[in-house]
Parts: sequence; structure tokens; C-alpha cells
Amino acid sequence: MRPDYPLKTNRLILRPFEPSDLDDLHTYRSNPEVCRYLYGEPATPEDSEERLKKSLTMGELTEEGQWLVLAVEFPEAGRVIGDVVLKWISEKDRQGEIGYVFNPEFQGRGLAREAAEAMLKIGFEDLKLHRIIAQCDPRNEPSWGLMERLGMRREAHFRQNEIFKGEWGDLFVYGLLDEEYERAAS
Ligand SMILES: CC(C)(COP(=O)(O)OP(=O)(O)OC[C@H]1O[C@@H](n2cnc3c(N)ncnc32)[C@H](O)[C@@H]1OP(=O)(O)O)[C@@H](O)C(=O)NCCC(=O)NCCS
Repeated sequence: MRPDYPLKTNRLILRPFEPSDLDDLHTYRSNPEVCRYLYGEPATPEDSEERLKKSLTMGELTEEGQWLVLAVEFPEAGRVIGDVVLKWISEKDRQGEIGYVFNPEFQGRGLAREAAEAMLKIGFEDLKLHRIIAQCDPRNEPSWGLMERLGMRREAHFRQNEIFKGEWGDLFVYGLLDEEYERAAS
């Protein structure tokens, strides 16, 4: 499955990463505030180069287990302001997962929501998924707030299921079924 790029939403363009996106990507991936609830530390320039190199080839899904990784371009600012992902978890069970990371300069404007909605559309309409999940640290309210704005339901609150950055961490899991997605769209 390869979406018909570039994908356009009201204010954004979603497309695979390109080599020239390095500075934009590094700006937000190296920001400690952005990385607070992400696995891994703020990116070094080498980390960002490595991430970009891998992302260049992640513009399509050919088998389960893969991640679709898209750059979110904001034409008004002439730059990439974040990235959104869709993991194809299972072909047999038609399960997927979305994720998002945005430059703080462009948060609080509904732009992440617009990009995430486009990923749900790809997941349900192109990939024909039955259920899409999203996961985050319960302290990451902007993230689960967005999940709720997307119409996702909180399905689980795992307590201390992993060691996160040196201490026990909890996990929220949100889910959305294809029928719920279709009902919300109609
Ligand atoms: C999670 C994250 C992507 C959410 O971004 P966001 O910009 O807050 O989310 P949205 O796009 O839904 O924007 C919502 C905000 O925009 C406001 N907004 C302004 N104009 C809007 C519009 N036209 N449409 C919708 N919302 C709008 C909303 O009121 C809301 O503001 P509030 O947070 O003060 O209530 C962002 O916080 C982030 O990148 N965090 C760091 C990385 C991270 O933790 N990722 C998740 C890992 S699990």
C-alpha cells in the first residue's frame, strides 16, 4: 500500500521524508520537551541523520510489522513541522497503530489532529484496518487529549508495565474500530 502522494489536508501536506528535511526534523527531535514522553533521549545530529535515512524508505507498507512514516509539511511556514506514523500491526487481524510528534512552535493549532486524521483515513480506508490503537504515558495529556479528539476510546491503563527513563511507567492504550470511525464520519 502506497498512498497517492502528496496527501493534502486543509492546511498540510503529508509525504515521505526527503534528504532536505534534516534541519527541520532535527529541530524538533532534539528538543527535550518534545522527547519527554518518547522512548529515547533528545536526538544528536547523528541520531537525526540516522532517523532521516531510515525514514526515507518508509513511505509505503508492503507487509505487517512495518511503519509508514510521513513528514508533515506546513506550506504556510514552508517547512516540515512534525511527523506522523502508522504501524501495520497485523494483516490477519487488521490491526494498526498511529503516532505523532510535532514541533512545539506548531502545536496548539489543531495541526497534529489534522495530520492524525489523515493517518486514520489511510489506515481504515486504504489499508482496510479493523482497529487502530494509540498509546502514551498517562502524564502526556496533550497526546491522550488528541486521541480523545480523534474519537478514540481509552481501552486500558496499564500500571507500571515498564521501566521508562529509569522509573516505573504507566501506559494508556486508546482504540478505534472501523465501525466507530465510519459512524463518526457519517
Ligand atoms: C501530542 C501532540 C502531537 C499534540 O499536539 P497538539 O498541537 O496539542 O494537538 P492538536 O493538533 O489536537 O491541537 C489541539 C490544540 O489546538 C487548539 N486549536 C487551535 N486551533 C485549532 C483548530 N483550527 N482546530 C483544532 N484545534 C485547534 C485546540 O484548542 C487545542 O488547544 P489546547 O491544547 O490548548 O486545548 C504534541 O503535544 C507533541 O508533539 N508532543 C510531543 C511528542 C509526543 O509526546 N508525541 C506523542 C507520543 S505518545
